[in-house]
Amino acid sequence: MSRVLLLPGDGIGPEIVSAARQVLQKVSDQFELGIELTEGLIGGAAIDAHGVPLPDETLEAARTSDAILLGAVGGPKWDQIERSIRPERGLLQIRSALGLFANLRPALLMEQLADASSLKPELVAGLDLLIVRELTGGIYFGEPRGIRTLDNGERQGYNTQVYAESEIKRIAKVAFELAITRAKSWGEGMPAKVCSVDKANVLEVTELWREVVTEVAKDYPEVELTHMYVDNAAMQLVRAPKQFDVMVTGNLFGDILSDEAAMLTGSIGMLPSASLDANNKGIYEPCHGSAPDIAGQDLANPLATIMSVAMLLRYSLKAEAAAKAIESAVSSVLDDGLRTRDIMSPGMTEVGCQQMGEAVLAKL
Ligand code: IPM
Ligand code: MG
Repeated sequence: MSRVLLLPGDGIGPEIVSAARQVLQKVSDQFELGIELTEGLIGGAAIDAHGVPLPDETLEAARTSDAILLGAVGGPKWDQIERSIRPERGLLQIRSALGLFANLRPALLMEQLADASSLKPELVAGLDLLIVRELTGGIYFGEPRGIRTLDNGERQGYNTQVYAESEIKRIAKVAFELAITRAKSWGEGMPAKVCSVDKANVLEVTELWREVVTEVAKDYPEVELTHMYVDNAAMQLVRAPKQFDVMVTGNLFGDILSDEAAMLTGSIGMLPSASLDANNKGIYEPCHGSAPDIAGQDLANPLATIMSVAMLLRYSLKAEAAAKAIESAVSSVLDDGLRTRDIMSPGMTEVGCQQMGEAVLAKL
């Protein structure tokens, strides 16, 4: 018996989570997982109902759940709200309150979609990389922060990039361990590789990052560790992305590089993510945002959220067979030529969010 909290959020969130909910319910029945589903409010939806982006009851429900599936937060409706209660703050607060320091963002190119990438197919065919982003520290949470008025009357914005050794150590361990697991799953002789991304030529905080990651690597002699400056990493990702396996980096660089990596696959609408605490409890969410421009029009791609359900089953509920079943159902729907608008290509059949969700259900 496990409890999963659904937080649809804003924009296309409710549509994609509704499709994913049906998939989760279906595998729960099929694999007798006994999953109990509850729903809560976060982001703009919570601001409208309670005046804050993360109400106490949502956080409480999150604490007592085994895993959380989140849609997306934010939209133009709440852009003018005071900074401290914007929808995005709800997301940052829940990540921080639950200690979800390890953000896993895979960029996997499904072969059916090789044409959807803006890069040449030979550069991205078979791409399978994983960005491990530190999620509860760095400049996102560092103090002091704010906007102040200087003596000369002009305003100055400031944030602080900080990482303690313990924060670097724990995220490095996650990266090394995942690299080993991934290498094993590919079979004998495949090297486990981690590339740590920093800006150690300029920022002291990442000079320490590089030092600590190098120390942690001593406990994982089977992993090949390399280091790369973030500007070079951004370039290498579009030049030769297949050189990477696991990339580990801080909060801000990870935010940027994970969008870039996601786009290599042609559709950010396909990519799931997991944000985990030390015990593998976590929030699972699509990498894309709330897409307010297409919200409520049945145009969204629910597959990233459905693939997030697969990750949820794998990491938090340890239900590998159910996770695999979902992944093959998605692959099979793509084999049938069904595409939402974001991944549409000539000769394929365009379907809406609901129909895509139903097609996955039917395969299950
Ligand atoms: C992400 C998003 C968030 C982030 C925003 C919405 C706060 O861009 O999950 O990557 O910057 O972490
Ligand atoms: Mg982002």
